[in-house]
Amino acid sequence: MKQAKFLVMEGCDGSGKTTVSQAVYKRLKEEGVDIIYTREPGGIDISEQIRAVILDPKNTAMNNRTEALLYAAGRRQHLVEKILPAMEKGQWVLCDRFVFSSLAYQGYARGIGMEEVMKINEFALEGVEPGHTIFLDIPAEVGLERINRNRSYLDRLDQEGLDFHNRVFQGYQEVLKKYGKDTKVIDANRPAEDVIEDVYKYLVEECGVCAKR
Ligand code: TMP
Repeated sequence: MKQAKFLVMEGCDGSGKTTVSQAVYKRLKEEGVDIIYTREPGGIDISEQIRAVILDPKNTAMNNRTEALLYAAGRRQHLVEKILPAMEKGQWVLCDRFVFSSLAYQGYARGIGMEEVMKINEFALEGVEPGHTIFLDIPAEVGLERINRNRSYLDRLDQEGLDFHNRVFQGYQEVLKKYGKDTKVIDANRPAEDVIEDVYKYLVEECGVCAKR
């Protein structure tokens, strides 16, 4: 079931997702909105430990299905320990990545198949769906170039080449066709302030994010 207060940001590596979501979160919080920011993989201790295993560049032997299962396991724990309790308290939840990432990266780019990956995620999520998803749209090569320019540490997935990142972008297009009828696509190949403004406006004007009066 869709959870109206559950907001997700998706996009390729280097799309600016984290910068944009943290800036929007900060602005909403300053305006008195009862909102938490969280991320996947991670968000809570157990899932951050799983994240460290998945992204460790030393883990070159990791099988694609093991990778998909670990993302789903981290997601399960994050959901029950942080996301659902926050929504039960009436809070908005802004989450950097969710199940669409697994469909695009593991389902499509790793070649497991989106349906296969959806199955293990259905097990993890028991019907919970975000109310609104935003996709930050940027060509894979622009994203990759930003990562190489701005980050001193590249994790196991960042280290994949342009072919992989192009498949991720293509994967997202397939995800949006199949599952994304309510997803807002925002052009992220622009200065961060413009993207932040558009995301903020979308959340306030179309998703109804506001402070309780
Ligand atoms: P981040 O850089 O957005 O923190 O995400 C870490 C990496 O994990 C990024 O390359 C995308 C990848 N990822 C997946 O492959 N599948 C998933 O389900 C999630 C949540 C992230």
